[in-house]
Amino acid sequence: MLTVPGVFLRRPLSVYDAKNGIISFLYKVVGKGTKILSEMKSGEIKILGPLGSGYPLTPLSKLQTPNSVIVAGGTGIASVHFLASKLRRKGTLFYGAKTKKDLLCLDKFKKIGWKIIVSTEDGSKGHKGFITKQFEEWSVKSGVNGNNGDAGMRRCADAKQRQNSRGGTGWLKEGKEGMPFSVNSTIHSSNSTLLYVCGPTPMIKAVLEIAKENNINGYVSLEEKMACGIGNCQGCAVKINGVNKMTCKDGPVFKIEEIDLI
Ligand SMILES: Cc1cc2nc3c(=O)[nH]c(=O)nc-3n(C[C@H](O)[C@H](O)[C@H](O)COP(=O)(O)OP(=O)(O)OC[C@H]3O[C@@H](n4cnc5c(N)ncnc54)[C@H](O)[C@@H]3O)c2cc1C
Ligand code: FES
Repeated sequence: MLTVPGVFLRRPLSVYDAKNGIISFLYKVVGKGTKILSEMKSGEIKILGPLGSGYPLTPLSKLQTPNSVIVAGGTGIASVHFLASKLRRKGTLFYGAKTKKDLLCLDKFKKIGWKIIVSTEDGSKGHKGFITKQFEEWSVKSGVNGNNGDAGMRRCADAKQRQNSRGGTGWLKEGKEGMPFSVNSTIHSSNSTLLYVCGPTPMIKAVLEIAKENNINGYVSLEEKMACGIGNCQGCAVKINGVNKMTCKDGPVFKIEEIDLI
């Protein structure tokens, strides 16, 4: 959560990148707060964070790591860029935006070895229409259905990993030798597919429906409006397994199989 001078509430932004002691954000100017941020030449920005839980990484070798698929819409790409750079096995990015000029970071994903499938609503680049169509066609064609449910995942027998599953804040973490480790309690076979989703709510809803129909597991990052960012105002509640959870504190990343369709 970033404190923006002259604006009452902090604004939530995902970490786009973090290296050499510098944290970067990638955001779209949509209102007063982001406009002020974009016009700041220099100065102090106060940040409250990291907050909530992020995408987990698995403690596996490159060969054992599941096939990764990201579906992102619009500025949702900011939330998955850092993840994509950390995943050991690069996968496929499905990325949709309104027009060509709204597509961001394609060169960055290409550079780190991701296969990219793009769509724009006006057809100015890639497929014309919503990216959910491309993702659905891929889900059916690649036959992930049945290949990714219980067979592709097994409970982690290692007590230490179980402890991790309860513990971590969920922020992207790396082990001592640079081996990413997971904060969740499942590990995956190399031919299973793990999905990561971030974007506008209608896109998330459509992707979750496709994922659930095809037994694709993974994670979704929700972009609810936020006021406090620390679980006090209850303004960002979502239903997870039928129970109200706070997106800021318990999320914003949730397991796809646990989330009730929004
Ligand atoms: C966990 C999280 C991570 C986010 N990460 C990014 C990011 O990396 N890059 C990025 O560009 N945006 C991101 N957003 C959205 C971003 O927080 C809003 O666009 C921003 O707060 C708008 O502030 P503003 O003062 O410019 O606009 P306002 O004047 O407050 O609002 C302008 C418009 O933006 C909408 N809006 C305001 N707050 C939010 C919100 N929290 N979520 C969705 N829509 C909102 C309003 O409904 C309105 O239509 C994220 C949101 C969340 C919850
Ligand atoms: S933003 Fe206040 S509880 Fe989540």
